Amino acid sequence: MDLFEYQARDLFESYGVPVLPGIVADTPEEAKAAAEKLGGTVVVKAQVKAGGRGKAGGVKVVHNPDDAFTAAEAILKLTIKGLPVHKVMVTAGARIDKEFYFSVLLDRANRSYLSLCAVEGGMEIEELAVERPDALARIEVIPGIGIDLDTARAIATAGHFPPDLVEKVAPVLVKLYEVYKGEDATLVEVNPLVLTEDGTILALDGKVSLDENADFRHPAHAELEDAAAADPLEAKAKAMNLNYVKLDGEVGVIGNGAGLVMSTLDVVAYAGEKWGGVKPANFLDIGGGASSEVMANGLSVILGDPQVKSVFVNVFGGITACDAVANGIVGALNTLGAEASKPLVVRLDGNNVDEGRRILRDANHPLVTLALTMDEGADKAAELASK
Ligand SMILES: Nc1ncnc2c1ncn2[C@@H]1O[C@H](COP(=O)(O)OP(=O)(O)OP(=O)(O)O)[C@@H](O)[C@H]1O
Ligand SMILES: [Mg+2]
Repeated sequence: MDLFEYQARDLFESYGVPVLPGIVADTPEEAKAAAEKLGGTVVVKAQVKAGGRGKAGGVKVVHNPDDAFTAAEAILKLTIKGLPVHKVMVTAGARIDKEFYFSVLLDRANRSYLSLCAVEGGMEIEELAVERPDALARIEVIPGIGIDLDTARAIATAGHFPPDLVEKVAPVLVKLYEVYKGEDATLVEVNPLVLTEDGTILALDGKVSLDENADFRHPAHAELEDAAAADPLEAKAKAMNLNYVKLDGEVGVIGNGAGLVMSTLDVVAYAGEKWGGVKPANFLDIGGGASSEVMANGLSVILGDPQVKSVFVNVFGGITACDAVANGIVGALNTLGAEASKPLVVRLDGNNVDEGRRILRDANHPLVTLALTMDEGADKAAELASK
């Protein structure tokens, strides 16, 4: 999960990383009040989870509350990289002497952590990495050691900081690593990290990504979620503990096991070409135990998507036998009643398949069609969706 800049700022502050005061505002009036409260020169910054806000007109320096109002009014109308701006942060203005770059991130390829650092910050780091790769230090951070003061000094030195600045910046890098480790982040990036005219180091813009796999260790992270941006069906599925991703097509897909569901998406998309370009509507893995409750939850999420025209249930009975799955489907259809209004194609195979098919045949539900193979099922579901 990516955080907004203001959330990263708050986290930084709680770990003792030097930041400027910042106040979040949803309206120009609130932005004006925030500027009054902070006093003097302030910066009004678009809060969107995308880079390049400055270039898009989403960062404005203003010198009085009325100008903060005007700036917020303009910024709140912007869409930056497809993301509408719903909030701004009004933050104190810094008198910047120099801008630096620092990040620490999960390096999946090397199964380690990586720190990037450059005394030349401010500009887009992707550009710097391409145009002057030597300017950007890439230092492995050993997870068991982390960034202690010595490592921080080595990182800053590799990033071409002069010795006096190395001493100033190193303790801040140590604190930023404490954020990374303490919050189970996969990215902590500061661009720019600055030296002010009066000689202090400040983190002026922070980007933090948190590892959702570690959410169980961080109950507080739930509050950082952007409920406004979440797809309501994805939120509903998450609350039911289902692995659901909404896609753009018409054939709802339910399967057991991520691999089977992924290949089902491919097969449905392939079959759909014949039926006017019908596509899968979602990814939904109901996992091992396909009980009627889980099946009902899954179906209810998928049928809640108005784009869905048909549903393809593709289950391979392994530890969960096909008869249990079939009973699950019949039970789910009973539970859902009138809510189950779209045709269902079911393909079962594997453990106890004959009994499973018999149960579905006997139930003889008007919405259910049995398919013997995955290809046949995908084709039938695509055909039904195209009507
Ligand atoms: N509080 C501040 N005081 C003075 N100048 C600031 C302040 N915050 C940002 N700036 C200036 O604005 C520039 C852009 O700000 P910032 O890095 O926050 O946005 P951005 O880089 O455009 O956005 P993103 O990092 O999302 O691409 C900074 O490099 C800095 O020069
Ligand atoms: Mg930035």
